[in-house]
Amino acid sequence: MTHTSLIVATSKDGFIARDKDKDPSTIWTSHEDKKRFVELSKRIGTIVLGLNTFNTFPHDENGNPKPLKGRRHIIYADREIAPHPDVEVTTDKPEVLLEKLNDRGIKEVAIAGGASIYRMFLDTNLVDTIYMTVEPIEFGSGVPFYKGNIEERFKLVKEEIVGNGTIFREYQRK
Ligand SMILES: NC(=O)c1ccc[n+]([C@@H]2O[C@H](COP(=O)([O-])OP(=O)(O)OC[C@H]3O[C@@H](n4cnc5c(N)ncnc54)[C@H](OP(=O)(O)O)[C@@H]3O)[C@@H](O)[C@H]2O)c1
Repeated sequence: MTHTSLIVATSKDGFIARDKDKDPSTIWTSHEDKKRFVELSKRIGTIVLGLNTFNTFPHDENGNPKPLKGRRHIIYADREIAPHPDVEVTTDKPEVLLEKLNDRGIKEVAIAGGASIYRMFLDTNLVDTIYMTVEPIEFGSGVPFYKGNIEERFKLVKEEIVGNGTIFREYQRK
């Protein structure tokens, strides 16, 4: 089965965004996290995103979000989006999408947000690995990562502090 990894950056108090706004997470995440995201997502090769998150990406001259170079993007959306060779649209349930990816020989996929996509995949038991970055900032309120208990279902296998107090965590499903 296609290995399912999830990549997320949170504030110290567990939020993935200050607001449900148009700003990408890259405006508050550290250089170290951006580098980790690029390395992980390029190695994994396929990222799954919700339309709101895709819309936070820089836009081209036609007003369409530009996909990240060298990665296949699978976007959850109920509507058509501008065609691009690296972009596919889906409405499949997680288990159906993962089965189709597996049939295509895709060995690993990264679930890259936002909140609705994290929730949809974490509500199943299909996520194998979580790459979490915790940034040393507090938002007080905002978009929470996930309401369920990660520590109960996932084992922390690696933790590293980098830069100015950024924490890299890796969890594996128990
Ligand atoms: N810190 C991080 O690591 C991180 C990572 C990613 C995103 N974020 C943040 O997360 C926030 C966005 O999260 P979000 O929950 O608002 O949006 P989202 O998950 O990015 O996208 C939600 C949209 O995706 C579409 N969608 C979701 N499930 C679908 C399904 N099953 N079938 C068809 N379409 C589906 C719907 O679009 P339509 O209804 O329009 O079709 C829905 O409105 C932003 O603030 C972003 O910055 C943070």
